[in-house]
Amino acid sequence: MVFLPDRSREFVTKFSDFLKDDSPNQNTPNKFSYLVIKQNSEKKVILNEILDHISKQTIIMSNKKILTYGLLFTAGVALFLFWPGNSTSNMLSNNTEVVMYKNEGCQCCTKWGDHMQEGEFAVEEVPVPVLMQVKRDNGITRELASCHTAIIDGYVVEGHVPREDVERLLSERPDAIGLAVPGMPTGSPGMEIPGRAPDSYDVLLVNKDGSTSVFASH
Ligand code: CU
Ligand code: CU
Repeated sequence: MVFLPDRSREFVTKFSDFLKDDSPNQNTPNKFSYLVIKQNSEKKVILNEILDHISKQTIIMSNKKILTYGLLFTAGVALFLFWPGNSTSNMLSNNTEVVMYKNEGCQCCTKWGDHMQEGEFAVEEVPVPVLMQVKRDNGITRELASCHTAIIDGYVVEGHVPREDVERLLSERPDAIGLAVPGMPTGSPGMEIPGRAPDSYDVLLVNKDGSTSVFASH
């Protein structure tokens, strides 16, 4: 191993500890969701540290050291980017993160995710074994339930809510749980069925006391 100044040593230790970190437990959706969020924010911090560190070091480094750090940096970034199950490419942009809990194999969920990603959103899909538990924990009752539950900037977004309504939610920031489109209306984003006329449906604002009001009609 090449000689590394103390700060680099500290970074390498930190980075390898980070890589050794336990992977989330699939059987506990809540713990899992927190872990996903925790891991992502930790990764952001670590990447920033790497960038910061490299930029400071480069100024005072010899060519040989630049090569060493360059390789270290490239290896770090490669590990970071190809780390299983993370949406790192999205993390490097300024897009708003969408953590979408869904049942494994749900196709319309992924289509709704694609619809969101056509805007300024970065979607991370999290398949969970007991989706209803995630809904319950986030204030979504059976009456409001759809096929997926997304957490976006502190709000819950249930089902096939159009992107424009999510954008309006995030700009108006009402004191509420979030938005819901119960069921899966035909014609809502991700639920387009060729040859079938779209349903008309309401997007509901879910208040903190569990009551709802119409936020938008389509
Ligand atoms: Cu669906
Ligand atoms: Cu869905």
